[in-house]
Amino acid sequence: MNITKIKKILSDYLAGKLEGISSDDIMLMFEYPPEPKMGDLAFPCFKLSKVLRKSPVQIAQMLAADFLCEYVDRAEAVNGYLNIYLDKNVYTYEILSEILHAKNNYGNSDIGNGKTVVLDYSSPNVAKPFHIGHLGTTVIGHSLKLLHEKIGYKCIGINYLGDWGTQFGKLITAYKLWGDKQKIEENGLDELVNIYVKFQKESEKDESLLDTARAEFAKLEKHDAENLKLWKWFIDISFIEYETTYKQLGIKFDVITGESASYSITQPVVEELKENSLLIVDDGASIVRLDDYNMPPCMILKSDGSTIYAVRDIATVLDRKKKYKFDKCIYVTANAQILYFNQWFKVLELMGYNWDCVHIPYGTVSINGAKLATRTGNVILLKDLFSTAIEKVKEIIEEKNPNLQNKDETAEAVGVGAIVFHYLMNNRIKDINFIIEDALSFDGSTGPYAQYTYARTCSLLEKGSIDQPFNPAYQPNEEENNVAYVLSLYPEKILEAINSYEPSVITRYIIEICTAFNRFYHEHQIIGADIFRLKLTEAVKIILGDALGLICLKKPEKI
Ligand code: ARG
Repeated sequence: MNITKIKKILSDYLAGKLEGISSDDIMLMFEYPPEPKMGDLAFPCFKLSKVLRKSPVQIAQMLAADFLCEYVDRAEAVNGYLNIYLDKNVYTYEILSEILHAKNNYGNSDIGNGKTVVLDYSSPNVAKPFHIGHLGTTVIGHSLKLLHEKIGYKCIGINYLGDWGTQFGKLITAYKLWGDKQKIEENGLDELVNIYVKFQKESEKDESLLDTARAEFAKLEKHDAENLKLWKWFIDISFIEYETTYKQLGIKFDVITGESASYSITQPVVEELKENSLLIVDDGASIVRLDDYNMPPCMILKSDGSTIYAVRDIATVLDRKKKYKFDKCIYVTANAQILYFNQWFKVLELMGYNWDCVHIPYGTVSINGAKLATRTGNVILLKDLFSTAIEKVKEIIEEKNPNLQNKDETAEAVGVGAIVFHYLMNNRIKDINFIIEDALSFDGSTGPYAQYTYARTCSLLEKGSIDQPFNPAYQPNEEENNVAYVLSLYPEKILEAINSYEPSVITRYIIEICTAFNRFYHEHQIIGADIFRLKLTEAVKIILGDALGLICLKKPEKI
């Protein structure tokens, strides 16, 4: 049982009362009343007024008269709304039984069965810092993958590294001039970033360095042995650090590849564009004009004939279609790339490939009010943000629960989780100002609060057993009914999150669960009371745990 099933039953029933309006249309019209006293569902009658030639008030009254529908206690007409009150004695029990039976499969569906989704996310630029701006693509992307898997899609998560391009010419030049092998081995990515930043600064003073860098990249493109070796080494060094971050987030990719892999497949794309008369030489560079679509041209080849970002993406998507036969290909990047994706998606369409490619952009992040300055190297690294959070959580644990086992592991799960949760509370397109103290608070709508609530369910369940049947005489109280009702929204929330590509729907829903559960917890004794209460707690543990997993949070059982 869940709210979607209830809506279906109600829609069928109401369709019988509303001539000429289909159950499917009715299904889309339900709303959630702003306050529980106004019912569990509301059916607004305003849109029907024209078709039925009656006022909304009359329609609502007509619907409320002799209302008799399964699972419904009563329905009241109020100002053009039909307010529907569910029969909680039946509904609550059915929800709980179903969740306890389905466990983590509650909310699963077969909508995506037989379909494949490719998700391109995280995809950092090698040898550049993994900064707070990459948090979005990494966690939104992974969460979208988990959400799609939950409803039956086969998903392929791809980390498409920015591992090719002129920045490698710069890095190779920098290394040859000032690099220290040992220092890089010891300090990893930080040291690579140092020499890269030094290059940026020096090249402002001495422009000839840029020519050297171009020449080094040209050598790399011709697979010069020395440069190729350095390039591979830079990638390995970078990846060691990325791995730590991915591990902290519990993220694994199905495929790790990069722009460099398009090396041998871009030429056929260039040929195909020529054959389709799409390619134009403009000032030496090869471009596809997009004036008809109100966009600047899409750059395909530079004047020296070297490939750039767009043609690599086009070649790569053709290859992905061949390899994975995807039904949808999702790209998650910062909103700075909106135009870029629109451009090359259009080129793809002009080539005759009408595939479902979707770009999912997200807004920028500032921390405690400070904007990020990427070019100067003055950036906030994700690993530093994570370790600050972990340290602060450690202090809190030392103070509140000094005897906790696995302190380090827990502090990592809670610290990293706090950052991710705080980030995923907002609609992705919004620019956000990140206040670390707010993210780490144990009260309020935070990750620590949600994880703490999860741990609370675990410790309650440690104290009692749920291996007994329900006592049919027990009548759940208002707080209990409310918890069950909130849990029954889960399947719908999952679909809402997928349809809008918004993991934040799940994050906010987690807070709804926690609020409902904590109200119940504070008002009623659980241990030693009717078995219903522990079973309800178990259902909360299942759904809360599953939902936390969907937004890349770990679930410590004790905090
Ligand atoms: N490496 C790029 C960046 O950091 C993101 C790549 C996104 N994926 C893609 N297929 N273009 O900006």
